[in-house]
Amino acid sequence: MTTWTPESWKAHEGRHLPSYPDAAALDKVTDTLTSFPPLVFAGEARALKADLAEVAAGKGFLLQGGDCAESFAEFHPNTIRDTFRVLLQMAVVMTFASKQPVVKVGRMAGQFAKPRSSPVEVIDGVELPSYLGDNINGIEFTSEARIPDPQRLLQAYSQSAATLNLLRAFSTGGYANLRQVHQWTLDFMDRSPWADKFAEVSNRIGEALDFMAACGIDPHSVPQLQGTSFYTSHEALHLSYEQAMTRQDSLTGDWYDCSAHMLWIGDRTRFEGSAHVEFLRGVGNPIGFKCGPSLAPDELLRQLDLLNPQREAGRITLISRFGDEKVEAGLAPLVRAVKREGHPVVWSCDPMHGNVIKAESGFKTRPFDRILREVRGFFAVHRAEGTHAGGVHIEMTGQNVTECIGGGVAISDAALADRYQTHCDPRLNAAQSIELAFLVADMLNEEAIDRAQRAA
Ligand code: TRP
Ligand code: MN
Repeated sequence: MTTWTPESWKAHEGRHLPSYPDAAALDKVTDTLTSFPPLVFAGEARALKADLAEVAAGKGFLLQGGDCAESFAEFHPNTIRDTFRVLLQMAVVMTFASKQPVVKVGRMAGQFAKPRSSPVEVIDGVELPSYLGDNINGIEFTSEARIPDPQRLLQAYSQSAATLNLLRAFSTGGYANLRQVHQWTLDFMDRSPWADKFAEVSNRIGEALDFMAACGIDPHSVPQLQGTSFYTSHEALHLSYEQAMTRQDSLTGDWYDCSAHMLWIGDRTRFEGSAHVEFLRGVGNPIGFKCGPSLAPDELLRQLDLLNPQREAGRITLISRFGDEKVEAGLAPLVRAVKREGHPVVWSCDPMHGNVIKAESGFKTRPFDRILREVRGFFAVHRAEGTHAGGVHIEMTGQNVTECIGGGVAISDAALADRYQTHCDPRLNAAQSIELAFLVADMLNEEAIDRAQRAA
């Protein structure tokens, strides 16, 4: 194998990379980015890896979620707060029900670049380059907006830094204190049947905290109750940007991509020999690897050997995205192969990307039923194989959007037009996300009962 350097990916086939009309302008921007402070510190990436190693060992669950694509237009403190609080609500529901720690990772503070199914978009006979994410070009359907502009990378960096700063403040500055659990409920949640269930969980947590406080254990004496660890992640798609954010850790001498704690490789860029795999094999961060229907078990094993030759637990999270109809047949052979070879991985379920349909109204949507069915199928496979269903990876928002049909407050095809705001794929809204959390909590409990029975 050739030696890895931060730019060795350039000698490999790179798909879904933007081509800039002015290469010198891009170089100037990446030079600037190289001189900027890293967004995360290597020690934090190692802390996440340690948390994920616990999940890989069956002692915890990974909750990863956020926008399909962040945007410059929707950059607002309230948007960040609302997504963060729904993730907290979900985590609380899952932790309370399963009595297992939940590792919280946002698809936030850097999730901009998008691989697109077609390089061009045609509207009314006019053909333009596709929108590739706000860090590359503009979503407006004009030839000017669609030209990749390297300056956008600087704006993406600054938005990521500000977002991460707010997330750090929320997670350690009091907002995430377990005593606040009632305050996380969003106003519009009232209409959802799941709001009552959440209130019930909050009450029981409140009681547990009161009891513990009477015993002398409270958020002042126990910092774990006061705040939470919250990590960031995005698809490492734009390799020039990721390279510019890659730094050598002064403590270990190892390289880390300091644009986020965790980076993942998409299903379209994880092929053998890809530039994206080459880049990520050399950085020490925890890595996500999307597994879709076209991935053969032996190919997955070769990629695992490449990305995690030391078989370090917590290094690899395999994120399956098959679609509700294919998950059982497609996932089982991968799980078996990975188990047989003894690779320590976290298995996570992305129930979003395999379940996209075009609604009659013309909107791209995802039926909530199918999302739930894929999650159920994912748990069923792991139960059958005796492996741990270790996480979910979802596209969601704290905003009251109407992008996925179905759910407790059923969103109909006709209602999609009301608040369809995504810059890319349809997201679960707050109520749908909480509903999913309750379902996952139930399934984690079933898994625990199963495990106890087997041990007995
Ligand atoms: N620190 C613990 C954890 O992160 C408990 C906790 C504090 C928590 N605030 C939280 C859990 C908010 C979920 C959501 O698990
Ligand atoms: Mn998406």
